[in-house]
Amino acid sequence: MAQTVSPIEPRVRDLRDRPVPDLVTAIPGPKARAHVAFDQTWTSPSLPRAYPLTPVRGYGMAIEDLDGNVFLDFAAGIAVNSTGHAHPRVVAAIKEQAAELLHYSASDFFLPIYAETAKAIAEIAPMRGKLRTYLGNSGTEVVETAMKLARHHTGRPYIVGFLGGFHGRTYGAVSLTASKAKYHARFDPLLPGIYHAPFGKVSDLAYFDEVLFERLIPADEVAAIILEPIQGEGGYVVPEDGFLEGLRELCDRHGILLIADEIQSGTGRTGKMWAIEHWGVEPDILLTAKGLASGMPLAAMVARAEIMESWSIGAHGSTYGGNPVACAAALATIELLQGGLVENARVRGDQALAGLAELRAKHPRLVTDIRGKGLMLGVEFDSPEHAEEVQFAAFERGLLVLECGKQTVRMCPPLIVTADEMATGLRLFGEAVAEVAGDRRRRP
Ligand SMILES: Cc1ncc(COP(=O)(O)O)c(C=O)c1O
Repeated sequence: MAQTVSPIEPRVRDLRDRPVPDLVTAIPGPKARAHVAFDQTWTSPSLPRAYPLTPVRGYGMAIEDLDGNVFLDFAAGIAVNSTGHAHPRVVAAIKEQAAELLHYSASDFFLPIYAETAKAIAEIAPMRGKLRTYLGNSGTEVVETAMKLARHHTGRPYIVGFLGGFHGRTYGAVSLTASKAKYHARFDPLLPGIYHAPFGKVSDLAYFDEVLFERLIPADEVAAIILEPIQGEGGYVVPEDGFLEGLRELCDRHGILLIADEIQSGTGRTGKMWAIEHWGVEPDILLTAKGLASGMPLAAMVARAEIMESWSIGAHGSTYGGNPVACAAALATIELLQGGLVENARVRGDQALAGLAELRAKHPRLVTDIRGKGLMLGVEFDSPEHAEEVQFAAFERGLLVLECGKQTVRMCPPLIVTADEMATGLRLFGEAVAEVAGDRRRRP
């Protein structure tokens, strides 16, 4: 039998003993280059890889690649590793649960840890009153779940999303997504009954009563309005104060459910447990995934009990949703979030915004906007090319960041980031921007 060789070499030096970042080869290194070629032979070309990072292990804020380079992680696996990499409490909870029970479907049986996790998530949800929780595997899956529940509960057909919104890639979620046309290219017909409205300004709200409900669809046939309280993939866009409040009022007036997709903005990332809490607005349905279980695949839909109680046995379920190991990771994650990480996100976010404001003042033509709350930070550049160049220049310096929107670079580090790590990240990012600014001056 042919011997299988792992591309991951045994640990030469413990990641915990190394400085971050710590680059030992050119970036990308020789093994990373070879691996990218191997990957591109076998994997789906649809995957939108940002740059040739080949992560093999992580600890805290550090990610080590195939060549042994250590990076400072301000991308957190796309805003997922909320408690950092391999948090000892999360790892211990996972190991303990894995040794007890790896899987039993909560759709068909009464898995104890499933209900405990449902309760723990409901208890931190930004809604008062009796709530219920459904557990799924991924963001897109709970978006689908919420669309089904909203239609089922209201008996109404239409669902409205926002321009710039991103909700996932399965058919319902991608139909709601309106951040980039490429997500729809050649996939028509999408799910019918979906409309989009402009996002973010208080004046945009007029679109509902003056255009959508006046000319296109009756308000009393709209089941739900779904939004990201702060848009993620669409460019880390923060709405004006008053926008969410106005939307809540509009939903109440027309009997429409308000669904908050907090899959990226939630679980403490913005310095509050949920981004919608910055405006004191309560959704009817909350969606969460990234960050909820520190990287284990778990997602949740929390709804007011009277909404969820309207669907009957068999209306929805999932084999893996609420897998016990993912649930154990979520319970440990929630404890850590409540134990100080949400507050840390707020404080470190303020530090980051102050540093980025200085960077913008230094490069006013290149850096056109900085925005965000907590550790959901966007730096907008004057062109998509410059955003991409800065992303790569940061990578070459050992800092992981990630583009979003048209020409924005996002920073979404784990919520454990310290003041020193934030300062290092800002310094490296500043150097990357300075390099691109220099290139720009050299260009004709
Ligand atoms: C706001 C939001 N909703 C939904 C999704 C889809 O989540 P998943 O990739 O887990 O399906 C994402 C993923 O980036 C997201 O940011």
